[in-house]
Amino acid sequence: MTDSAAVILVTGASRGIGRAIALRFARAGGRIGINFRGNTAAAEETASAVEQAGGEPLLLPGDVSDPAAVTTIFDTLLQRWGRLDVLVNNAGIVRDILVLRMSDEDWDQVLDTNLRSAFLCTRAALRPMLRQRRGRIINVASIAGLRGNAGQANYAASKAGLIGLTKSVAREVASRGITVNAVAPGLIETDITRQMPERAREALIQQIPMGCMGTPEDVAEVVFFLASDGARYVTGQTIVVDGGLAM
Ligand code: NAI
Repeated sequence: MTDSAAVILVTGASRGIGRAIALRFARAGGRIGINFRGNTAAAEETASAVEQAGGEPLLLPGDVSDPAAVTTIFDTLLQRWGRLDVLVNNAGIVRDILVLRMSDEDWDQVLDTNLRSAFLCTRAALRPMLRQRRGRIINVASIAGLRGNAGQANYAASKAGLIGLTKSVAREVASRGITVNAVAPGLIETDITRQMPERAREALIQQIPMGCMGTPEDVAEVVFFLASDGARYVTGQTIVVDGGLAM
């Protein structure tokens, strides 16, 4: 499902890992729905990079934690291309703080953006995929969802939830030609990790067996593989992309 006829929707694709995923599919000639929330200029940059790489872009603005926005995003994509082969649930935020000081809003915003969004988009994507009797859903989780992280109770809970969602939906649709998998990145060079205090980032890099941060392209390659025909017998899995950090 990575050829030039394939239709791919990537949430949160205006920058970072989402943009790298959109570009990886564009290099194979795919038709790419680029969802983003606020940054239209950045999303337009992604769209022109997709075009230059050989793909066909479609900008799909909207907050994926909002059911009405998700309906609009899917209606627009399906009206344009009539099918959906690959959904990548990538949109995500952090609101890092120790749990004792965490506000209800810190919790809700992270859970809504990282987990509710994936549920809403998965439900919407399954309708066309079940009709087609083929599809790929790939959720961008995190190693925080596997091993927890102090200061990230909300984020880790959302990413652990994504892994549970992945396995459950994988079981529901395995017999219908649809696979559902997750990737769990470690420390990747993007705007999220650039916000970390320098000392905390350096301390974490010391713990990575490969001795360096990963790039958005490292994650995009694994997502692309999971969408490819080569991964047709892989479902319900979480592939860790972290230079050995969490092993
Ligand atoms: P980023 O902050 O550079 O990009 C996040 C993207 O999500 C942006 O395009 C933003 O506009 C979009 N977004 C945020 N809320 C949204 C919403 N409600 N609706 C639609 N779009 C929304 O972050 P990055 O690093 O590229 O992260 C991408 C994914 O990878 C996230 O799910 C993140 O949790 C995950 N991840 C990142 C790691 C890292 O080290 N950078 C490590 C592990 C996981």
